[in-house]
Amino acid sequence: MISLDVSVDAQAAGRAAAVRIGQLIEAMPRAVIGVATGSSPLPVYAHLARLVADGLDVGEVRWFALDEYVGLPPRHPASFRHVLERELLAPLGADPALLHVPDGSARDLDAAAADYERDITDAGGIDLQLLGIGTNGHVGFNEPKTPFDSRTHPAWLAPQTRQANARFFGGRVEDVPRRCLTQGLATIMRSRAIELIATGAHKAAAVCCAVLGPVTVECPASVLQTHPDVTFRLDVAAACQVQVSAPSEPNDGTADSP
Ligand code: GLP
Repeated sequence: MISLDVSVDAQAAGRAAAVRIGQLIEAMPRAVIGVATGSSPLPVYAHLARLVADGLDVGEVRWFALDEYVGLPPRHPASFRHVLERELLAPLGADPALLHVPDGSARDLDAAAADYERDITDAGGIDLQLLGIGTNGHVGFNEPKTPFDSRTHPAWLAPQTRQANARFFGGRVEDVPRRCLTQGLATIMRSRAIELIATGAHKAAAVCCAVLGPVTVECPASVLQTHPDVTFRLDVAAACQVQVSAPSEPNDGTADSP
């Protein structure tokens, strides 16, 4: 079942997700948190850093990335390992050794995918997975038509996804890798809880398909309708096709602290 939480803006949506993650870490200091890249999670990470500054201890949290490009040089600034070290771990003061990322430079990608799936299992499974959503309804790099029973696997990026991600490659779509390793939809569905962030009017149609559409491989995020604990954290623009009631928080600056 998908719960909707509509906030006035992206910052407030990110704060709501960060508060939930913070509560989980307080209750379970060794929690396993699945983390995403892209623009949508950045406010979550910024607010998590505030919670850490206020005393939240994330020293034992295990972090698992959702996906990684294939073929980027190890220290490329757009590699998801690099992005997560820069945007998440460094502001939190967390140990990079506790970040797991699929090995996109492996010679044998199928073996690397199987290793990653095993790493997640060995860690006890993901307690909470943070997701964004692509404009075509993809989650992770599971593009339309990805089977619902997929585990971590090598995948091809849709042209629309490469175009959208060109901004992380100086606007050069030809520099965006064509392949990736991604948690599969079944991997994501095994997470005990899921927080999906979608903000901006360009996400409204994908959110609508995910929440209200049929459960179909044409919209990979629609599979989340069958998960018991999913919350979509939306801003008003992303929610405009699924909800007409007022957002949950005032935009008067009083909600800055969790
Ligand atoms: C990429 C990532 C996804 C992310 C999506 C949307 O394709 N693999 O995990 O959800 O982009 O990104 P953004 O939040 O920047 O719109």
